[in-house]
This record gives sequence, C-alpha cells and structure tokens, in this order.
Amino acid sequence: MSRLAVFVSGGGSNLQALIDSDVKNSIALVVSDRPAFGLERAQKAGIETVELSRKELGKSGLSEAIEKVMAEHKIDLIVLAGYLSIFTEEFSARWRGKMINIHPALLPKFGGKGMYGHHVHEAVLAADESESGCTVHFLGEGVDNGEIIMQAKVPVVEGDTPETLAARVLEEEHKLLPKAVLSVLKG
Ligand code: GRF
Repeated sequence: MSRLAVFVSGGGSNLQALIDSDVKNSIALVVSDRPAFGLERAQKAGIETVELSRKELGKSGLSEAIEKVMAEHKIDLIVLAGYLSIFTEEFSARWRGKMINIHPALLPKFGGKGMYGHHVHEAVLAADESESGCTVHFLGEGVDNGEIIMQAKVPVVEGDTPETLAARVLEEEHKLLPKAVLSVLKG
C-alpha cells in the first residue's frame, strides 16, 4: 500500500476532503511550510505532522529537509493540497510521477508563475472566460505543468467576483481531489 504525505500551507480544506474520504488510510504524514490550520486538522484526525519552515530553511534547505523526512516515513506519494513553496529541480526530478498537485483552474490555462490563490480567479474573470474549474495533475518540470489526472468544470456566472468564483471552484476541488488521488492509488 502507498504511504502518502499531504503538503499544506493554509486552511487545509482539501486535506480535510482527503481525511473524510477513503484516501485517509493511506495518509502517513502531513507536512506544512509554515504554521497552518491544516496541521490541526491532521492532528485531530490522528495523523502525524511536521512543520518544515520555508522561512528558516530557504528553498534548497527546505527540499533537503523534506527529502529526509520522506525517507524516514517511507513516503512514496506526495499530494500538494494548497502548498505554496517551490522545490528545487533535483527534488522535482526525483519525485516526478510521484507528486500530485491541485490547481484551481483548468490547466494549461491560468497556470504557472504567480498563478495562485485569488490571482488565478482574477485572471479568469479578466479574460472573460465562460467556465473555470480545477485540475489534479502530476508535477512536471515547471510550475503547474505535467500530466493531467482529472479536471472538473464550473460555470463563470454574471456578477462573479474572485471570491464567489473561488468558492464555487473550491467546492469542486473537494470532490475531485479524493477521486483523483484514489485513482492514482489504485493504479
Ligand atoms: C485551493 O484552491 C488549491 O487549489 C490551491 O490552494 C487552495 C487551498 O485551499 N492550490 P485549502 O488550504 O485546501 O483550503
């Protein structure tokens, strides 16, 4: 059975969706790069947690520290669920095909550098798109690229703000992420 580590930086509602699904039994560890409410969700569910501070470790120090913790916990699959730090190229190369990310837009559109949080939804509205959604994908060489595992769409509606669109997308994320991770776990 795969041993999964879920990475969070914030509220962790996507982590919660995993905890509330059949994925839970595979979650061996939750990792954060800063103090995050997601850690409390994990602890409440009886899952081990570790905080590796991006601020204290820096980019390469962080990747090294994570690599060590992954080995200690015999992790073979990483799920980035709202994780904001970026890894070194070496780390990404080693974990290629074993690191899954969720992005709040329909990749390959509205991905890449600077496209996170409200920036994504602002860009979708500015481009006058009629739909948006979320993408679960394997991490490739760059930011937000790589093989797409699953996507879900939502409509953009008249009068949408970045906040209303984000909420509609997030609701779909909570359904899509457990489904996509389960499909990877089942091979
Ligand atoms: C989600 O929109 C996710 O797609 C993005 O960051 C947000 C995290 O939300 N990468 P949460 O921490 O899971 O509540």
